Amino acid sequence: MPSADEPFALVIFGASGDLTHRKLMPALWSLYAARTLPEPFAIVCTARTEMTDAGFRAKMREGVSEFARLKIPAEHVWQRFAANLFYVPGDPNDPALHERLERCLARLEGERGDTANRLFYCATPPSLYDDIVERLGATGLAAERGGWRRIIVEKPFGRDRASAEALNRQLTGVFREEQIYRIDHYLGKETVQNILVFRFANGILEPLWNRNHVAEVQITVAETLGVEGRGSYYEESGALRDMMQNHLLQLLCLVAMEPPVTFDADAVRDEKNKVMQAIRPIDPAKVDEAALRAQYGPGFVNGRPVPGYRQERGVAPDSITETYAALRLKIDSWRWAGVPFYLRTGKRMPRRVSEIVVRFHRTPHMIFRRDPAGVEPNRLVIRIQPDEGISLVVVAKTPAPELRLGPVALDFKYGEVFGAEPPEAYERLLLDAIRGDATLYARGDWVEHAWALLDPVLTTWARTPAALPAYDAGSWGPPGRPLHRPRRRAMARGLITGELGAPPDSPQRAQPPRRSRGGARYAPLSAGPAAAARWPGSRRRRGRGWW
Ligand SMILES: NC(=O)c1ccc[n+]([C@@H]2O[C@H](COP(=O)([O-])OP(=O)(O)OC[C@H]3O[C@@H](n4cnc5c(N)ncnc54)[C@H](OP(=O)(O)O)[C@@H]3O)[C@@H](O)[C@H]2O)c1
Repeated sequence: MPSADEPFALVIFGASGDLTHRKLMPALWSLYAARTLPEPFAIVCTARTEMTDAGFRAKMREGVSEFARLKIPAEHVWQRFAANLFYVPGDPNDPALHERLERCLARLEGERGDTANRLFYCATPPSLYDDIVERLGATGLAAERGGWRRIIVEKPFGRDRASAEALNRQLTGVFREEQIYRIDHYLGKETVQNILVFRFANGILEPLWNRNHVAEVQITVAETLGVEGRGSYYEESGALRDMMQNHLLQLLCLVAMEPPVTFDADAVRDEKNKVMQAIRPIDPAKVDEAALRAQYGPGFVNGRPVPGYRQERGVAPDSITETYAALRLKIDSWRWAGVPFYLRTGKRMPRRVSEIVVRFHRTPHMIFRRDPAGVEPNRLVIRIQPDEGISLVVVAKTPAPELRLGPVALDFKYGEVFGAEPPEAYERLLLDAIRGDATLYARGDWVEHAWALLDPVLTTWARTPAALPAYDAGSWGPPGRPLHRPRRRAMARGLITGELGAPPDSPQRAQPPRRSRGGARYAPLSAGPAAAARWPGSRRRRGRGWW
C-alpha cells in the first residue's frame, strides 16, 4: 500500500552521468517546484568523479535550467532546493564509499530528526548493479533500521533471461520484491497511464475489446534519431533489447490485460503477467515467421543526409546489431485468440511516433455500393508521443451532392484539452517510488517472462548474422518478402494491414484538410494498406510485405 508523504533520502549512484543530468535532477526539481516532492528530503549523489557539494550543485543547476519542465523562478528558490543536494565522491565497488555514504545519511537524518527512509537509485552502467547491491547488503545500508529501504534499478534489466534471473537473485538476496523498483520510463508517460484509465473507466469499450471486434493491434515506436554518439552502448543492445523487451511489451500488456480487481500494484502486475504467460512462445525453428530485423544504412532524415549505422562512432564496420525490430505475436486467450499483435520499433525512421492502433473488423455488410472505396475499418489510435492523444477513426459522408465516404477522426488531444504540458515520466515514477507505489514499475517475474519470450529470437539472430537486411535511413524499414496468398488477399480487401514492417497506421498519415465545396473543413484520413503503399519513403507496394 503506498505510504503517505514522509521525509526521505535519495541516494543516486552514477550521479555524474547523463541520466542524472538530463532526467533525474530536472524531474526532482520539477516535483519540488510544483510542491509535490515530500519534505524534508535529502538527495545524496555519488560517482567517481571528484566534485564538491558546490560544484555538483552548479552542474545540476545547468541540467535543470536546460531540461526541467518547470523553470527556476528565482535564485532563492533554487538555493532552497540545492541546499538539499550533497555529493560524496567514490567508487561504488569500494566499501569505504558505502561507509562514507552511511555517515553522510546518518548525519543528515540526525540533524533533521527524521526517520531514516532511504531510496537507492542505480544510475550507473548495468554491469555495476550487482556490485552496488552486494555492497548495500554487506555494509548494512540496505537494512531497514529506523525507516524503509527501496531501490530503483535502471534499464536494461539483464540482456537475456539468464542474466535477468541472476540479477533478480542478487536483488532479492538483499531486498524483498516489494522494495525493488525496476524502472521503465515509458510506463510513467501520461498517455501510457491513460491506457488503463481509458480502458477501465469507460464502459463502452469493454464490449468491443476482444477478438469479436478487433482485427489487429499495432504498436509502433519509431525514432528519427540514430545512436547519437552512444554507438558502443547500442552495439551491446540493439532494438530488440533496447525497446522491445521493455517498452513495447509493456504497452502490449496494457492493451491486452484483463481488468484488474483493483488499481493496486500487485493486482495490475498480476494481470500483466497473465498476458505474458498467454503470448504464444516463438518457435526457435520459425523465428523468421514471427520476427523481422534490419539495420539502417545512409539516407536522409528531415531532408538532411545522415550516415548509416555502421558509419556511426563506436560501431563496428561489420556490425550485426539491429536498429529495427518487428514482431508478430499471438495471445492464446479467449479475448485475443486469432488477433495478431504487431510490434515495431526502429531508429532513423521518417517520423518520431509512438502509438497504438487498434484496428476493428470491417462492417459485415456494405450498403453503400456506389462508393465503398472510402470505407475503412474503424481504428482507435492512442498516440503516446508526440501530439499525445486518442483518436477514433470513423467513416463519414464527405460534403458533396453525391455520396462519397471518407474516414474522419474524433480527436482528443491532451495539449488542447488540458493546456499545460504533462509531467515528465521520471517525475511520476520517482514520486511513486518515494511513496511506495510500484504499480508503474516492472515486477521481477514479468521481466523474466519478457526475456523468455525474446530469447529464441536473440539466439537465432546471433547465429545468422548474414540475414540482416539494410534499410535506408529515413524510410519506414526494410523491403519485405512476398505475402502468402491468403494474407495478400485479405490485405487487398483492406481486412488486415498484416505486415511487420508497415508504417504506423494512424491519422497522422492524413492528407492535409481539404475544403469542400460547401466551405466546411474536414480531414479525410488516409488509412489502411492503400495509404501505406503510398507512404513516402516506404518501398512497400500493395500486395507486398513480410507475411
Ligand atoms: N541517459 C539516459 O537517457 C538513460 C535512459 C534510460 C536508461 N538509462 C540507464 O541509466 C543508467 C545510467 O545512464 P547514463 O547515461 O547516466 O550512464 P553513463 O553516463 O554512462 O554512466 C553514469 C555514471 O556511472 C559512472 N561509471 C561509469 N563506469 C563506471 C565504472 N566502471 N565504475 C564506476 N562507476 C562508473 C560514471 O561516473 P564516474 O565516472 O564519475 O564514476 C558515469 O557518470 C544506465 O544503466 C542506462 O542504461 C539511461
